[in-house]
Amino acid sequence: MKKVLFVLLVLVALALAACGGGNAVATIAPVPAEYAGATNPLGADAATAGAEVFKVNCESCHGPQGHGDGPAGVALDPQPKNLATFAPTVGDDYLYWRINTGKEGTSMVAWKGVLTDEQIWQTVAFLRTIK
Ligand code: HEC
Repeated sequence: MKKVLFVLLVLVALALAACGGGNAVATIAPVPAEYAGATNPLGADAATAGAEVFKVNCESCHGPQGHGDGPAGVALDPQPKNLATFAPTVGDDYLYWRINTGKEGTSMVAWKGVLTDEQIWQTVAFLRTIK
């Protein structure tokens, strides 16, 4: 009887270890072909206009510096990402794609049609400046 219990404990421990390891690795979705490789047609100075666009449209959830700490984001699941740490891990095409089309299963809506193409690129330029 004791032996059976021991085997069970070992199995549970192994299962837990396997799950923990799998979840620890954050996977970043591949950029769809339509957006893949897109680069910002605007210069770095577009970040000034982008800061304004961000303030009006994104700050409520993502926070003033994009740290994911806006008042409207607190109750969301998942909570808005910290864009200051996330943006450096992805390309301009990824940011441009996500802002255009949103993120399924989250409160991140599609901004295409709400913001102009130029405003979206301005926002991408701004995201390159936050720390
Ligand atoms: C209603 C709240 C809300 C608003 C407003 C909002 N976002 Fe988000 N955003 C989210 C949430 C929630 C996520 C998903 C976080 C996650 O999946 O971990 C997200 C994710 C993102 C991501 C990363 C997507 C990814 O792959 O994880 C980017 C980039 C982003 N938002 C940019 C913006 C920009 C730029 C604006 C303004 C034009 C904006 N967001 C407005 C809530 C919001």
